Parts: sequence; structure tokens; C-alpha cells
Amino acid sequence: MKIIMLGAPGAGKGTQAKQIAAKYGIPHISTGDIFRANIKEGTELGKKAKEYMDQGALVPDELTCDLVMDRIQKDDAKNGFVLDGFPRTIPQAEALDAALTKAGEAMDYAIDVDVPDENIVGRMGGRRACLNCGATYHIVSIPPKKEGICDNCGSELVLRDDDKPETVQKRLNVYHEQTQPLIDFYKGKGILRSVDGTVPMDQVFESIVSILGE
Ligand code: AP5
Ligand code: MG
Repeated sequence: MKIIMLGAPGAGKGTQAKQIAAKYGIPHISTGDIFRANIKEGTELGKKAKEYMDQGALVPDELTCDLVMDRIQKDDAKNGFVLDGFPRTIPQAEALDAALTKAGEAMDYAIDVDVPDENIVGRMGGRRACLNCGATYHIVSIPPKKEGICDNCGSELVLRDDDKPETVQKRLNVYHEQTQPLIDFYKGKGILRSVDGTVPMDQVFESIVSILGE
């Protein structure tokens, strides 16, 4: 099963993608997580990506597309994958489409997790992320067992650099300009499904499972 998660920053794409990956036994591929891992390791890609991410801007397509095309060809992605944060622009969606068509394949579902802008800013300010294993928490709705420490790996939890309120607003603007057009793109392909992302996350997941099947 090949799935794309669509939705605004903070809509819950990562939260849901992790559960989808676990239930259906497919890898969770998050371009944001890949960039953050590169930043942490101080790679060339990380240095370039950080300049854009800290501004709330998108990393250029030429740094992003090849990375994903390589990743989806790995052995663990043979039976499918869940893409989180990619594609984010029409050229990225077209590049993905072209690569899959060449391999005689196609995406199965694009799931839009719908959350209005008003709900987003509060979520982001409360998010805490583990830069070691990628787990995410929320100080109110999903607190870690021990404050500031990851339940999975014991690393310190941090507020992401791009989760400051002024950067979140910029990311929302970028989302509306560059990423929202993908909703119509996938509607046109007949694979778009929308779920209400404002309800508790277990209920969001139930809606997704009712789309994907048990
Ligand atoms: P990325 O890491 O993809 O960030 P994003 O799209 O802005 O999305 P987030 O990770 O912030 O939100 P999410 O939807 O995953 O929500 P989450 O599950 O964490 O990208 C970061 C940056 O990298 C971009 O700005 C860009 O610069 C660059 N980049 C990445 N991909 C790129 C690409 N393809 N092209 C170009 N540049 C790219 O949930 C948010 C919070 O809400 C959490 O605290 C969570 O616990 C909580 N929450 C989740 N669900 C619920 C719920 N139902 N109810 C209550 N709280 C909930
Ligand atoms: Mg995410």
C-alpha cells in the first residue's frame, strides 16, 4: 500500500503516519525527519536544509526529490510506504508520479488530515520532539511519562526551532500557497480521501483505518 499524508503543518501527519506504518508493516518516510537527522549529524544536506527550515520556507525541490526517489527504492519499501511531508509542491508530486509510472506503479491513497489554521498554533507551541528517535509528544494532549524525556529512548525532548509562533504562521502561509493545491491534484487522480483531524488522535486513526481497510 502506497500512501501520501497531506495536511497543514501540525495537522498530525507524523502522528498518524507512525501508526499507519506500524499497523500495515510499511516504512514511514518523513522528509522533515530526514532533514532534521541530517542537521543533527551536520551533513552538507543538513546545512543547506536548515537555512530554509528555520525560516519556515520549503527546502528546494532539487534537494528533496532525489532523496525521496532513492528512499522509496530501498528493499523495505517493496510492499509500500507512507510518505509524510512529501510531496509538498506540484513539481514534487509530478516527479513522484513520473518515477512510479516508469516503474509501472501508482500511489493508492492521498489522505488529507484536515485541521483549520486556528487549531494549529496551539498544537505547535505544545509539541515536544525527540531528535534522536523521531517520537513526538504534546505537553497537554500526549505528555511523556517523565517531563522533557522521551519514553522510547530516554533522550531529551526539544521544542523544534521552526515551532516558534512567528515561524508557524509563515509555514501556514507556505502551506496554503504551495501545498494545498495538491488536494485538487490528487482529487483529480481519484485517490484523495479527507479525514477530520480536529478530533482526538485515536479517532483520526479509526477514520484512516476505515479508508485503508483492516
Ligand atoms: P515537516 O517536518 O514535514 O513539518 P510540517 O509539515 O510542518 O509538519 P509537522 O511535522 O510540523 O506536523 P505534523 O502534521 O507531522 O504534526 P504532528 O503529528 O507532529 O517539515 C519541516 C520543514 O522541513 C518544512 O517547513 C520544510 O522547510 C522542510 N521540508 C520537509 N519536507 C519538505 C519537502 N517535501 N519539500 C520541501 N521542504 C520540505 O502533530 C503536531 C502536534 O499536535 C504534536 O504535538 C501532536 O502530538 C499533536 N497532535 C497530533 N494529532 C493530534 C490530535 N488529533 N489532537 C490533538 N493533538 C494532536
Ligand atoms: Mg511531522
